[in-house]
Amino acid sequence: MSSHQLEPEITIGEAAARSGVATSALRFYEENGLISSSRTPGGQRRYARDVLRRVAFIRAAQSVGLKLSEISESLSGLPDDRAPSKDEWENIAEEWRPRLDSQIATLEGLRDNLALCIGCGCQSLDSCLIFNPDDKASESGPGAQYLTD
Ligand code: FES
Repeated sequence: MSSHQLEPEITIGEAAARSGVATSALRFYEENGLISSSRTPGGQRRYARDVLRRVAFIRAAQSVGLKLSEISESLSGLPDDRAPSKDEWENIAEEWRPRLDSQIATLEGLRDNLALCIGCGCQSLDSCLIFNPDDKASESGPGAQYLTD
């Protein structure tokens, strides 16, 4: 028996109360393989305590737009038979860094150019920073850059 199995387990109600996630969400995470539980002889779920960290991870991942399949892939790198170590959690955080950096850059671009777009109002699909955030023509300024007088 591993040390993971010797840790006191918690009910789904306790997990919900401590994680701030509805029991229905916990069941959904479990149905999708993001968390797991054991069952009592009466069929009630029991979770290892590290489920709370996993749920916090899932919620953080969802808040930055990761799909369930991506979250599942990240979590698949963690051990099933014991609580993950600090290093193992840090490895997952490192995997996320490029994606988070990209999202931050996109949000910073929108923040910095939103006032220009509001003042412009052209809503050009070719050059608008809001409607087409990756468009290079927008670097020349707001408005339709390719139209001539
Ligand atoms: S409204 Fe965005 S560039 Fe004109």
